[in-house]
This record gives sequence, C-alpha cells and structure tokens, in this order.
Amino acid sequence: MITRDDALRLDSIDPLAPFRDRFHIPNPGVIYLDGNSLGMPPKRTIERLQEVYERDWATGLIRSWDHWVDYPQRVGDVLAPLIGAAPGEVVVHDTTTMNVYQLVHAAIALRPERRSIAISLDDFPTDRYVVDGIANATGHTVVRGFDDLADVAVCVRSVIDYRTAELVDVAAETARIQAAGSEVIWDLSHAVGAIEIDLPACGARLAVGCSYKFLNGGPGAPAWTFVATELQPVIEQPIWGWFATVDQFAMGPTFQPRPDIARMLLLFRSILALAAAEVGIALSAEAGMPAIHAKGRDLTTFAIDLCDQHGLATPTPRDPARRGNHVAISLPRAKAIVQELAARDILFDFREPDIIRAGCSPLTTRFVDVFDGIAAVAELAR
Ligand SMILES: Cc1ncc(COP(=O)(O)O)c(C=O)c1O
Repeated sequence: MITRDDALRLDSIDPLAPFRDRFHIPNPGVIYLDGNSLGMPPKRTIERLQEVYERDWATGLIRSWDHWVDYPQRVGDVLAPLIGAAPGEVVVHDTTTMNVYQLVHAAIALRPERRSIAISLDDFPTDRYVVDGIANATGHTVVRGFDDLADVAVCVRSVIDYRTAELVDVAAETARIQAAGSEVIWDLSHAVGAIEIDLPACGARLAVGCSYKFLNGGPGAPAWTFVATELQPVIEQPIWGWFATVDQFAMGPTFQPRPDIARMLLLFRSILALAAAEVGIALSAEAGMPAIHAKGRDLTTFAIDLCDQHGLATPTPRDPARRGNHVAISLPRAKAIVQELAARDILFDFREPDIIRAGCSPLTTRFVDVFDGIAAVAELAR
C-alpha cells in the first residue's frame, strides 16, 4: 500500500527537487500534471525577457542585429547535447508543423525514385495532416504504418506516442527503415527534455521537436530541427527565405542555400520567443538528461503503481524502458473528470476518446503531486 508519506519521502531524497524553486508556481495548492503539454514558466524567463527588451531592443535598437542574426543557431547549440547532437546540428526556429513540412520535402527530394510517404494513423494530427497535404500537392501516396517500405521515400514517426507514452526503439527502427532504403524523420516533441536519447548514435539523420513541453520554452515557443552534419550540404528544403541564403545581406538576385544547418531557416524569428526558449532549454541542460530521465522513470513508475492501487486502467507500457514521461489513464468519463479537477486547480489533460494524461515533468513535478492527483482522479472515477 503506497501512502502519502511515501510520496513525501521520495520528494525529500529527490536530487532534482531544488529545480522546482527555479519555476514560478502560481499557488502552493496547484497540482500541475500537464507539463507534457505546456511546461511551467522558469522564473529567469521574465528577467531574460526584460533584458532583451531593455538592453537589446530599447538600447541597442538595430545594432543588436549583430547577435540576433545567428540566435537560432546559438540556441540550437544549447539544445544539441539534450539529444546527443554536435554543435551546428540543431537550429531553433519556427514550429514543429513547419519544420516537419520542410523535412518531408527535403527527404522526398533525397529519394526521388520512391513515390510514398509513411506515417501511422496513431501519430499526432499535425504530422499526419502535413504529410497528407504534401502528398496531395506532389502526387505521393500515403502509406499508413511502417511494415511495407518498398516504395516509401520517408517515414514520419513520433519517438513517444502522445496518447499512451509508448517509446519506439529509435536505433532499431532507424536501422530497419534505412536498410529498406527510406529516410525517417523523428518527431521528438514528447521526448526532448524527457528522455535520454542520442540521435546520432541511433543513426538518425533528421528530427524535429517543440520546446514548449518538457523544455519549458513558453506558449508557442519555437521548435527545432536536427539535420546530421553529413546531410546538411545536400538537403533541399522548399521554403527559400532570406535567412537561409549564403551572404544574406548582399541582397543578391537569387537564393543560394547555405551549406550548414542555417539552410533550414526561413525568416526573422521572434527574438523574445527565442530568448524565452533558451532559458527553458538551458535549465534542462543544467540538470542533465541522465538525472531527468531517471526521475521521469521513477515518477511514471510511481504513477502506474498508484493507478494499480486505485484500480485505474492504463495503456502506458509497464516497462520503464519502453515509455516516456507521461502516464495515460483510460476512463469512461475522462473529459468530465479532467474539467472537474481543473476547477479545483488539479491540472491534467484529456485526449480523445477516453484518456487522461498525467504528465510527469522531472524539473517541476513532485511525487506528492502524482499521489494527490491520481487520488483525485480515483475519487471522481468511483
Ligand atoms: C508529436 C507532436 N508534433 C507536433 C505538435 C505540435 O506542433 P506545433 O508546435 O507546430 O503546434 C505536437 C503538439 O503537441 C506534438 O505532440
């Protein structure tokens, strides 16, 4: 029998516990189990935004362009170690949706003889819609699932299932897909800042993810793109914006893609948004992915054990090596329960058709939050 004292004891020995003080907590009573949708705000973010406002914008004015122009690459270098990437392999820009669009085009251009794009029907809607839209425009066929890859130019896949938290074996699947002659674009939106992953060691060459979930980058924070160094000089992305051209300020007559990761850029992104994203990303980098992943496993194990104790069904894998940092609870009145709990400052989220997601963000979630939150679900489920 797990008790609330067990939760308090686990919090008292948690090496990441001090990180919670680095975040703004709206009131001591709030139980926040939705950091997998929107991470909590770091306290430093507001100071950093003030700095960018006063020093860079209000004082520096246009002179600040000198360090704004490569800011997406510099924030990319802060993020790179979280996914095992090298400096110069990641750029922080635009949104996951746009970045998927760019990479799918880039990948199909690498495999012109193949006429299909593969994605699972279970994958996140925006990725599926982007794939459908590209197929509609280019005449490619969309294949549902990843079994038959004979004519597939590229597979688009989430590393962690946004509903169940099931984690794909990225190394094994990358090897299988590449051996079948296809590219794969990994979407790490639910994985980055949650689990330890080394994309280059897994053989991955193309990936995207967001920064507003486990990276605490802020609402609508910019996403990121990873392109392995070897592919950077050869991939062709479809949106030829002025930030991606060689010698941008020469204002030349034609677009010439830069040879490096900056060829994925489009335009002058919000510096304020990049500054906020950098603060959140840097906090995860400071805590380190091994510690974050270890606590994520402990929190989700604790959550699953509590589900068992309360008789709540969960489709989340029981093997910690096969799941990310949220736990799904499958319940008939899931939507109504999530709404009722939100009114009591207990925040989960709901996913169709019947799933309550309990997000466990290692930098901000306490074991006692998991204990109290799941007890509250169980009480309303009775
Ligand atoms: C796997 C995945 N891809 C993409 C997105 C969203 O894309 P965007 O950041 O462009 O809104 C989400 C949002 O939850 C997601 O979970």
